[in-house]
Amino acid sequence: MEPIGAEERDAVRGLLGAVNEGLGAPMAPAWEAAFREVPRHAFLPETVWVGEDLVECSRDAAPGEWLRHAYADTAVVTQVNDGEAAAEPGERWASCSASAPSIVFRMLDTLDVRPGHRVLEIGTGTGWNAGLLAHRLGPGLVTTIEVDPVLAAQAVGRLERVGLDAEVIQGDGARGHAAGGPYERVIATCSVRAVPPAWIGQTRPGGVVLVPWESPWFCYGLLRLTVDGYGGASGFFSPHSAFMLMRGQRTDLRIYRDVVRDSHVPVESTTRLSPWAVAGDDWAAQFAVGLQLPDVWRTWHDDPDVEGVASRLWLATTDAASWAAVDWDGRSSGRFTVWEYGPRRLWGMVEAAYHWWRGAGCPGPERFGLTVAPDGTHVRWLDTPDNAVPVPPRPSAPDHEVPARCGTNTP
Ligand SMILES: C[S@@+](CC[C@H](N)C(=O)[O-])C[C@H]1O[C@@H](n2cnc3c(N)ncnc32)[C@H](O)[C@@H]1O
Repeated sequence: MEPIGAEERDAVRGLLGAVNEGLGAPMAPAWEAAFREVPRHAFLPETVWVGEDLVECSRDAAPGEWLRHAYADTAVVTQVNDGEAAAEPGERWASCSASAPSIVFRMLDTLDVRPGHRVLEIGTGTGWNAGLLAHRLGPGLVTTIEVDPVLAAQAVGRLERVGLDAEVIQGDGARGHAAGGPYERVIATCSVRAVPPAWIGQTRPGGVVLVPWESPWFCYGLLRLTVDGYGGASGFFSPHSAFMLMRGQRTDLRIYRDVVRDSHVPVESTTRLSPWAVAGDDWAAQFAVGLQLPDVWRTWHDDPDVEGVASRLWLATTDAASWAAVDWDGRSSGRFTVWEYGPRRLWGMVEAAYHWWRGAGCPGPERFGLTVAPDGTHVRWLDTPDNAVPVPPRPSAPDHEVPARCGTNTP
């Protein structure tokens, strides 16, 4: 193993302080030992991308800066564009990262591993998390799956170099890895919109499946399911878990570029509910709306060049069959113009979801939970599994095809 120099040791100490502060308490001694002895920098590639604009930082050109990023309590992007050439010059989006250390340790703590547990990780990425688990549990107990062959090979090399024994499987993590199980713990480090049944099927009764969950409404939560032994699993959400979506569950955002077509005649109305209330900075409201509308996507268009409109909230179903737009003038109350098109009146559904949440006393994410039934059905609930969150039924099929060209009759 590469020896850890004085500079790195100082950096580890500094990060440990920041992580403990982020966690609100010192991390468990066994995790602290793993943290010190499985150095994060040894798992990072020579080039990483940092900040909101994903600025490239290379170890060769800027060793001090590179090391600073390695030991900051932030995510460091380690692959862009799935490792392929950008579709448009300069286009960059994160396809792999070393997650922020405080999130890593919060998840490991929530996972609650015990000596002898077999653990399956989905999303090997750099291999750091698998290395921490292997340090804690010892050889032969950690299996990790990575879909990207280049990343998987790099992780194998890094784990070997630091002398840790975790089996890296290259493939689609949605299938799990039955040969390494059954597992006491399954942890995903990429987020999902639906829990793959294999993860539950390969976990022992009473075992835990920990997954970052998201909805297209940008509701994030960490879901901790306990496996019931009858093919199902159930558990609560907790906040703090924005991860990149698992390949296989990504939505191609290009379908929304063309969702509004010349021929569409939207229904116009007004609303007293500010779009900011449901898609602004109220995390709990957004989480509750996202849980109730699992196939509704939204985005803000700031400054749309329409008189009196500061921002326009766009909504669309993930099959691009229905859409809505709501204009926001920057005020929290008043009347706001709404356009809706398609078989589902999306703004009406959002209003109903929001009012249900208000009527329930504005519960935060930690009061919600989810049950996965043996047939794979997902039931979202509030406080107890018998108190289901209302999820409006979807029409059986879209009423028109996903458009192939760009429309111009935006409101
Ligand atoms: C946030 S990174 C994981 C960080 C990682 N645990 C670490 O310690 O560096 C998410 C990873 O999930 C991987 N991934 C995405 N979809 C996957 C899938 N279907 N199966 C396995 N891995 C997947 C990505 O390629 C990426 O490397």
